[in-house]
Amino acid sequence: MTTLAILTAAGSGTRLGRDLPKALVALAGFPLVVHAARRLAASGVVDSLVVTCPAGLDVAVRDVVAQDPHVDVPVRVVEGGATRQASVAAGLALAAPGDDVVLVHDAARPLAPPLLVRRVVEAVRAGHGAVVPGLPVTDTVKRVVPVPAAGGLGVERVVETPDRAELRAVQTPQGFDRALLERAHAQGAARARAEGRAATDDAGLVEALGEAAYVVPGEEAAMKITTERDLQVAALLLGEAS
Ligand code: CTP
Ligand code: MG
Repeated sequence: MTTLAILTAAGSGTRLGRDLPKALVALAGFPLVVHAARRLAASGVVDSLVVTCPAGLDVAVRDVVAQDPHVDVPVRVVEGGATRQASVAAGLALAAPGDDVVLVHDAARPLAPPLLVRRVVEAVRAGHGAVVPGLPVTDTVKRVVPVPAAGGLGVERVVETPDRAELRAVQTPQGFDRALLERAHAQGAARARAEGRAATDDAGLVEALGEAAYVVPGEEAAMKITTERDLQVAALLLGEAS
């Protein structure tokens, strides 16, 4: 039985604001998607890789990922969809008959370490059908609703302050029993068509099925790159590691 990793790289990177998609932006000389692919391959527990890419960039993405000497697993590239959920579904459609575990990982988390990849796959293979890495939350978090006529001050009303000890900020790679993830995406696609709303996370689709999802300890290095500042933090982390 084999493990497929779907590496999502089809986003445009609007918040980063560069003139190329975020996954192709360089960090220490290599595109984010290459950093992520290298670490998935280096885990030793990923058998093949499907990378979702922006429309028209399949050749460019295949060239940088498949030709990287550190990416020593088979790589396929597929055009993503309008949402992350649709992109993951496009990747999942390429799963081979023997793939019984599927990882979903964001190119926007280029430094997720190989040990985290192994931790997630190990938990899935131990019988947990949906596994996400998560870190304790250091900020106190409040749930809010809009205030009618807030008068441009950005005022919102607090509904609830969840107990911080029970919260986790989740990361990728997320790992799944393949059949469970396929069921979750089938239902998620139907809901997206009906409600015009897509999920930002695959475990959320599993939870919506009423099935259990599990958290394993995350890693600071698996931080997500959204803004220029995040890119600078990632460069610092990379410098510390070398
Ligand atoms: N992604 C994708 N297909 C989409 C949208 C996002 O494959 N239609 C991927 C991104 O490439 C990224 C991951 O999902 O690796 C998480 O998305 P996000 O961090 O939001 O990246 P972008 O959508 O590219 O950034 P932004 O929202 O700022 O435009
Ligand atoms: Mg996005």
